Amino acid sequence: MTTVLVHDNGDLLAAAAAARLITKLADAQAERGTASVVLTGGGTGNAVLEHVRAAPARDAVDWSRVDVYWGDERYVPADDAERNEGQARKALLDDLPLDPRRVHCLPPADGAFGEDVEAAAAHYAEVLAQHAPEDAHPQVPRFDVCLLGLGEEGHTASLFPDTQHVRESVRTVVGVRDCPKPPPTRISLTLPAINAASEVWLMTTGSGKAHAVAAALATATPPEDVPAAGARGRQRTLYLLDEAAAAELPRG
Ligand code: 6PG
Repeated sequence: MTTVLVHDNGDLLAAAAAARLITKLADAQAERGTASVVLTGGGTGNAVLEHVRAAPARDAVDWSRVDVYWGDERYVPADDAERNEGQARKALLDDLPLDPRRVHCLPPADGAFGEDVEAAAAHYAEVLAQHAPEDAHPQVPRFDVCLLGLGEEGHTASLFPDTQHVRESVRTVVGVRDCPKPPPTRISLTLPAINAASEVWLMTTGSGKAHAVAAALATATPPEDVPAAGARGRQRTLYLLDEAAAAELPRG
């Protein structure tokens, strides 16, 4: 089921998504004692994390029992300001009593895999498999929610239009080179991995995204043209938009 929620502005979207995330994680923990979230890079994703940090209800979540993953990562040195991990730590994670063993970062470019981004991606796929239920297909954890951003041309995570990675049906994590959005080398979950999540939330703001949002929601669009169109949660897909990003959608 796909639901579109439109908020007056980007800040309200981020605050509402933060409240929704806190509730989602707390509900998951009430149900099975633990919760898992896949974070996204980008301005909207980080704004949501900043609102979680400021939220009075944030400690309704037992953060020591939350598993944190990333949907993609820029393949840069660990201390590079462009890393999604560093931006997430600054926005929220360093303020939380997380269990460091449950924060699953992607390898940096100055780590064990050096220039070999494909090997780094394969390593992360192994990390996901190690935390997957035995009967999971694909071999990834039971993500409660996968947060995603959306690019103006329809990319999500680091899956860009008209690339082989959008059609990847076997691997759960891929190395991506020559990305049109800098930095050019990245690691990304593939759509099979993203779509293993119970819920997928695509969050974006601004008029520049309006066309991509409309294309992603137009069911006829194949994922190769608009990768975001291929992102769907097992139970629910949410589009969390501001008015500007929703401008090309039919009213009502
Ligand atoms: C990244 C993100 C990317 C991002 C979109 C939207 O690492 O860059 O994963 O997919 O979410 O490009 O970014 P904005 O929210 O900044 O528009």
